[in-house]
Amino acid sequence: MANSNLTNAKNAKNDEFYTQYHDIEKEIAAYLEYNPDVFRGKTILLPCDDPEWSNFTKFFAQNFERFGLKKLISTSYAADSKNFKSNYQPTLFEVNDPQFDSYKTSKYGKIFTLTHDKTGDGKVDVNDLEWHYLAGDGDFKSKEIKALRNEADIIITNPPFSLFREFLAWIVEADKRFVIIGNLNAITYKEVFPLIRNDKMWLGNGFQAGNAYFSTTIAKEYAAGVYNPETGLVKFRNVCWFTNLDHGRRHQPLPLMTMSDNLKFSKHKEIKGKESYDRYDNYDAIEVPFTDAIPSDYEGVMGVPISFLDKYSPDQFEIVGITDRDDNSGKKIREYTELDAPNHGDLNRRGVIKIGCEYKSTYARLLIKKKTI
Ligand SMILES: C[S@@+](CC[C@H](N)C(=O)[O-])C[C@H]1O[C@@H](n2cnc3c(N)ncnc32)[C@H](O)[C@@H]1O
Repeated sequence: MANSNLTNAKNAKNDEFYTQYHDIEKEIAAYLEYNPDVFRGKTILLPCDDPEWSNFTKFFAQNFERFGLKKLISTSYAADSKNFKSNYQPTLFEVNDPQFDSYKTSKYGKIFTLTHDKTGDGKVDVNDLEWHYLAGDGDFKSKEIKALRNEADIIITNPPFSLFREFLAWIVEADKRFVIIGNLNAITYKEVFPLIRNDKMWLGNGFQAGNAYFSTTIAKEYAAGVYNPETGLVKFRNVCWFTNLDHGRRHQPLPLMTMSDNLKFSKHKEIKGKESYDRYDNYDAIEVPFTDAIPSDYEGVMGVPISFLDKYSPDQFEIVGITDRDDNSGKKIREYTELDAPNHGDLNRRGVIKIGCEYKSTYARLLIKKKTI
């Protein structure tokens, strides 16, 4: 249910979801724990933000000195360019500023920068942010924001859900470090999966129990139980952080049982009591329908749910492909035609198990292999 809400949001191109302070704090703590100097001397760009009240801007401005930042840049997207037209009102902070311009306020984006103790109170924090209107609307694809991207070392944000692919490509083409929020299903996209396979992008530390809560002002479209009118928060499942900054959790191996122990003791009825794991009919691999049922001693290729990625350690496994796309794994052993099944097109995009004369396709599976040192 909550999942389809993200799809609805994407279809309706609703991008107005705001990240909670404690989620940012918890995520960033994981990178700092792994490398306390990860942000030292760095320029951080927070694009797709609303710096006057974004928790990303607040969090990094408040921690500017502790992280040893060189520069913080945060930009917003003009209200008139947003997909969802709200009853836009400039903040008092902006209206009371001598630069306030009643035309520019909704037509142009804004840029906030932080580099030094402007107020002279002996510390660098949120009060030292300097701002002005951008020359354009703050679209991350514009020349103006591209120049800021090129200047930055690390890009951090919750980008518009409807433009996730474009946003990721925009980061990758500039070869930047990043920490961004997106939907786990994005890993099946043909532009995204190669980054995962080639260890150029991985999942971050993650949201509490896989549930992400964002604040939104556009509440009408949600079913009861998904949007909480008291907190103003909407719940999404399957939302995760994507990054190319290292953190400790991805170096913790997954504790697993051997294949024979799984077949004897697995808590999953689909595994326990069977003689062996199912083999795909069209891939040279076995089907492992649950991450905790991955056999520790199997040397061949295994198809596992994409949620495995949250437990993936590159020290323990390598990712060789995905069943959902063209054969990028080299492990595909047959293609179906209409002589095999009327739905051969669908079957060719999946790992397929043959039961008697029936072809049963599985969900998208990552193809993994035990790491050999
Ligand atoms: C998911 S919200 C996140 C906002 C903020 N970063 C946060 O996490 O609290 C994405 C924001 O990107 C803005 N946006 C949409 N299209 C954009 C574009 N082409 N360029 C820059 N920002 C855009 C949306 O208006 C929205 O405010």
